[in-house]
Amino acid sequence: MNTEDISRRRFLARLSIGFAAASAALASVPVIGFLFAPLFKSLPEAWRSVGRVESFEIGKTVSVQFQTADPLPWSGITAKNSAWVRRVSEAEFIVFSIHCTHLGCPVTWIPEAELFMCPCHGGVFTRDGNVAAGPPRHPLTRHQVRVLNGNLEILTKPLPIV
Ligand code: FES
Repeated sequence: MNTEDISRRRFLARLSIGFAAASAALASVPVIGFLFAPLFKSLPEAWRSVGRVESFEIGKTVSVQFQTADPLPWSGITAKNSAWVRRVSEAEFIVFSIHCTHLGCPVTWIPEAELFMCPCHGGVFTRDGNVAAGPPRHPLTRHQVRVLNGNLEILTKPLPIV
């Protein structure tokens, strides 16, 4: 084996390593994009009407349904969510997320007791959404609310379970 063979062999080996490294870098681009894209993506949010203002009675808490902020064409029923609306006065509304702040189970309003009850681990919330008993450590999450053209609207977005 002469020195020319060795240098050609070395050159080809380095070229192969270079191609392999470039191929690996190219193949990793989609994987890195998939892993890090959620960090730079803003969370979807949208205002949704939940009913005419006059349909809510002062002092009552009622359930409403709405479409989530970013429904996909194939989402079906999973694109729907619920909330509890309490009309406090002529102009004041409080809209609670239906999800318990412990692990996200849907809470139920018990009008006779004026409490929200969570069926999963016995979480209890007052009519203002504060924790009354059980494992939840945070009050019920509230949606932002506005009245537009006589409709009560809530801001829908992924709400934290804390
Ligand atoms: S999910 Fe509600 S108490 Fe655990």
